[in-house]
This record gives sequence, structure tokens and C-alpha cells, in this order.
Amino acid sequence: MKIELRKFTEENKQDLIKLCNAIDRKYLSDRLPHPYTQESADWWLNMLSENDEKKGVWRAIYADDKLVGNISVEQKSDVYHKDGEIGYFLLTEYWSKGIMTEAAKQICALAFEKLDIIRITGLYYEPNVGSGRVMEKCGFKFEGKLRNGVVKGDDVYNLCIMGLLKEDFENSRVNKEV
Ligand SMILES: CC(C)(COP(=O)(O)OP(=O)(O)OC[C@H]1O[C@@H](n2cnc3c(N)ncnc32)[C@H](O)[C@@H]1OP(=O)(O)O)[C@@H](O)C(=O)NCCC(=O)NCCS
Repeated sequence: MKIELRKFTEENKQDLIKLCNAIDRKYLSDRLPHPYTQESADWWLNMLSENDEKKGVWRAIYADDKLVGNISVEQKSDVYHKDGEIGYFLLTEYWSKGIMTEAAKQICALAFEKLDIIRITGLYYEPNVGSGRVMEKCGFKFEGKLRNGVVKGDDVYNLCIMGLLKEDFENSRVNKEV
């Protein structure tokens, strides 16, 4: 399967809307609008036109030319400004095919190339072991957890913190395999 990262544009806007309305939100933050409307997509494209490759890198994941997911690294501010936070999601029918591991390697390489950052942070809710594994396979190390750090609906989760240093990524084999 060919996994590529492409920019979001007016051309793939309708696919973006379908994606965001179809996604499993169980382990996602509530930041993603629901339902995801034309206005949500317009806001998103405008935000990207101002910030992409300056304050973060945001990409659509294509598997064999179909838009199947979203991935980004967003640069933080204040004293955290040399850190970026990774986030991603994939349509359920495409899970467990290695797609996100490949997409995450690609976005980390792009983020370290385009942004003035020295590390990338990844946060996942403890039961979301697939997400933790994706990060491990990209070279992230477990750095600790915020116990009961997340309340989503009726569920309370520990928030696991993963970190990837730029120097480690550049020296690692995962980077060279991208
Ligand atoms: C979490 C998610 C991104 C994983 O993506 P994916 O493309 O299915 O992951 P991969 O196929 O690259 O798998 C990576 C590893 O995780 C494992 N894995 C994936 N899903 C898993 C699951 N539900 N339970 C246990 N392991 C899982 C795979 O077996 C693989 O490990 P292995 O190579 O040692 O066998 C995807 O399930 C998703 O989008 N979920 C909904 C949104 C979400 O949770 N986003 C992340 C928020 S932090």
C-alpha cells in the first residue's frame, strides 16, 4: 500500500468533511468539531494557509490515493516553543495495516525539517495501546503519565506522555527507512 502525506486544499475539502464525520472519537480530545461542517472545514483550511510550515505541519494521509486520515505536529508557545505535539487519526476500516506508523515517521521527518523544534511530544489515553505502539515504533520514549489526567464523558483516563528528541530521530534507523 502506498502511504503519502498531502496538503489539505479546496480540492479535498469534501473528503476532509466525510473523514471527520466518520472518525472514531473515543480516544480523541473534544477539540474536533462534531458534527464537522463546511464552516469547520473552511476554518481549518484558512488556519492552515496562515500557519502550515510556520507554526506546525498539517497533512492528509492518503493510502493508495484515498484520503484515510489526518496527522499533524503543532509547535507549542512560551517556554515550550521548541517542542511540537503530534496528533493523528485514521478511518476505522484502515486500522492495523501499518498506515499510521508510516505516516508518523513521515510527519516527524517533515516537522524536524520545517520547524525550529528540538523534540516532539505525543500524548495518548492509557487504554489506547495502538497509539502508544505507533509512537514507540517511531522512536518515541515513554516519559511518564498524568494520573487521571483526562476526563472524557463518563470515562477517566491516565494521560501517557511520549517524547522524541530531534537528535535521536536523526540518528535512528526509523528516520532513514522513511
Ligand atoms: C491509534 C491509531 C492511530 C493506530 O493506527 P494504525 O494505523 O492502526 O496503527 P499501525 O497499524 O501502524 O500499528 C502500529 C502498532 O500498533 C498495534 N496496534 C494498532 N492498533 C491496536 C489496537 N487497537 N490494540 C493493540 N495494538 C494495536 C499494531 O499491532 C502495531 O504494532 P506491531 O507492529 O507491534 O504489531 C488508529 O487506531 C486510530 O486512528 N485510532 C483512532 C484515533 C486515535 O486514537 N488517535 C490517536 C490519539 S492519541
